[in-house]
Amino acid sequence: KICPKTLFVGQKIVYLPSCHSTNDEASDLLLTTDVSEGTFVVTDRQTRGRGQRGNQWEAQPGHSFTGSLILSPTFLAATEQFWLNMAVSLAINDTLSPLLPNGGLTIKWPNDVYVYDRKLGGVLIENTLQGYNVAQSIIGIGLNVNQTDFGLPTATSLLLETPIDEGYQLPALLTTLCEQLEKRYLQLRAGQRSVLRETYLNHLYRYQQPHRYNAEGQPFTGTIVDLDPLGRLGIWVAGEVRYFGFKEVAFE
Ligand code: BTN
Repeated sequence: KICPKTLFVGQKIVYLPSCHSTNDEASDLLLTTDVSEGTFVVTDRQTRGRGQRGNQWEAQPGHSFTGSLILSPTFLAATEQFWLNMAVSLAINDTLSPLLPNGGLTIKWPNDVYVYDRKLGGVLIENTLQGYNVAQSIIGIGLNVNQTDFGLPTATSLLLETPIDEGYQLPALLTTLCEQLEKRYLQLRAGQRSVLRETYLNHLYRYQQPHRYNAEGQPFTGTIVDLDPLGRLGIWVAGEVRYFGFKEVAFE
């Protein structure tokens, strides 16, 4: 049993040796069957992985974690979807931080997993709504675990950052991930929002450090200082805080 300690996250694992995208498989499951909350669709080989902003997500078969968790956060209003991003990125952080250099692991807004200046993982959350609330949530998580070759200089893996002879065991990683996801999700469900927000800000990449950004093709120097209730990033620039939604600002 993968998750002996959780109440529902990972109690059902749908393992697929190969698929196009676990997010799409999870979405098909929701359309065709009665899926219990906490079901995790996991694959070894994802052939058409999707990333944020319409990007592709490449993963090396058998060397990466690729999976999608199904939750029903009906307690969240449609305007509160970002809270789920926070809970999920913190859970990934909690899972990986014992394995990585102290202080090296950060969350790049909204929910990329970074080790110093390299990306180790990403999250793609796709929600369905019912009325003014979230109905179902598909939480796609991709983590570079044992791969050592990347086409991109900006990517890294757990094995590159903390080498161990035998490599990392994906099932053990999944167990911890499920435990941490459930912990953060229950925190959110119990309304412990200020804890989540503060912890998220404490782990935020470039928080309170001046850096270069770009908005509408205009580069500027600013400092991340805030996150508003909609999950928009507050950057202090030229004496005022400007708020940016996802896709409205790029990190340089
Ligand atoms: C990103 O950083 O752009 C998000 C990447 C999310 C990748 C995961 S892998 C499992 C799930 N299935 C997908 O097709 N995408 C997500």
